[in-house]
Amino acid sequence: MQISGSMGPTLIGKQIVLGVTGSIAAYKAVALLRTLLREGAIVHVVMTQSATKFVTPLTFEVLSGHPVSTDLFEAHQEMKHLSLPEQADAIVIVPATANCLARAALGLGDDLLSTMLLTAQCPLIVAPAMDGGMWTHPSVTEHVSALRARGTIVVNPEEGPLASGRIGQGRLAEEGTILEAIQTALAPRRDWQGHRILVSAGPTQEPIDPVRFISNRSSGKMGYAIAEAAQARGAQVVLVTGPTALPAPRGVEVVSVATAEDMTKALSVRLAWSTTVIMAAAVADFRPKYPAPQKIKKQERTDQTLDLERTTDILASLSAQRTTQLMVGFAAETSDLIAHAKDKLTAKGLDLIVANDVTTEGAGFGSDQNAATLIDRQGAMTELPLMPKRALADAILNRAHELLRTRQSNQTPKPVAGGR
Ligand code: CTP
Repeated sequence: MQISGSMGPTLIGKQIVLGVTGSIAAYKAVALLRTLLREGAIVHVVMTQSATKFVTPLTFEVLSGHPVSTDLFEAHQEMKHLSLPEQADAIVIVPATANCLARAALGLGDDLLSTMLLTAQCPLIVAPAMDGGMWTHPSVTEHVSALRARGTIVVNPEEGPLASGRIGQGRLAEEGTILEAIQTALAPRRDWQGHRILVSAGPTQEPIDPVRFISNRSSGKMGYAIAEAAQARGAQVVLVTGPTALPAPRGVEVVSVATAEDMTKALSVRLAWSTTVIMAAAVADFRPKYPAPQKIKKQERTDQTLDLERTTDILASLSAQRTTQLMVGFAAETSDLIAHAKDKLTAKGLDLIVANDVTTEGAGFGSDQNAATLIDRQGAMTELPLMPKRALADAILNRAHELLRTRQSNQTPKPVAGGR
């Protein structure tokens, strides 16, 4: 079993909630707890009632140095379902029974552990253990797929002799494998180190007169999430943003603009500096042709016509001027999502487009969640289900990073805007 070797403890100060559910493999969680503590983690153990039939809470309590939580309704457990996950860097469920996987996948909250999963924002790592026939049951397979699609790290059980005496896949994974999954989930990813990313976000505001403007419903959350995630992964990030109510992401240089024209200038002068451009802004396509220098008075008028003219298509123009930058755009659509997104990918000369249907319930403008399909120049599609915008930001960065790596190995020529 590989532990930290000469690197020293790898989880110093990390707060881990260790969930233990009712499988015979529960005794192995005791050894894992000791390993996590040796690695420097602070561990709070939460047991289901059935887990307590296999190992006593006292065992975990003595070893972890913290009271073990078992019941949502015990007097001294007040609000544990909120406070424990809030402080946790990761929740690790070892062993996870088929019942636990089902409740996590379905979002049931009928005990402390399952309720915690509904409030947790941190990574979730589960190591299932069960009889082989159960692991391959279609319902377990479906629940595992649903959890994986939401970003849960599932450490597959291993093949071997089971408690039932049979041979099959169902044995809890080796402790070293589980530890590695925890270390990977908690290690800061620095895969964008050395890259310079230009991100745009938010709406633009196009003045009608000094007090009025044309704008749109963009909150800026998606672009800010991308800037934040890229910075956390080691990139230098400049965020060019239209007016939003969001705080500046830490470590990111923020350039505030109002109009499409300001945004065009702010991005164009930084294009040469950047290695990747991610255009999440909702740029106004039209602006008033003759913005009034003074407030327009209603006087005797009963109607008023506004002459509009096209703004620059910023992304297409950046794409036409680029040298080696990877260009990522968004397509906000209300119909024919994939067809429209593919057209934009070609017309704007992009490497990747994030297609999102802004009519999807719970997604799009103003929401903290979004769902999208990523489409690259080869037509390869990655469907991403509804998830927090920060998780989607990481998924977009993952795909963009893959494209950069492929490009490095192939050295493909840049596409030409307009698709010619
Ligand atoms: N975009 C841009 N400049 C514009 C309009 C859009 O750079 N004047 C960018 C957006 O930031 C997005 C992509 O182009 O990355 C697609 O934007 P979208 O609003 O979906 O499409 P449009 O190009 O505006 O086309 P349409 O309004 O016809 O859907």
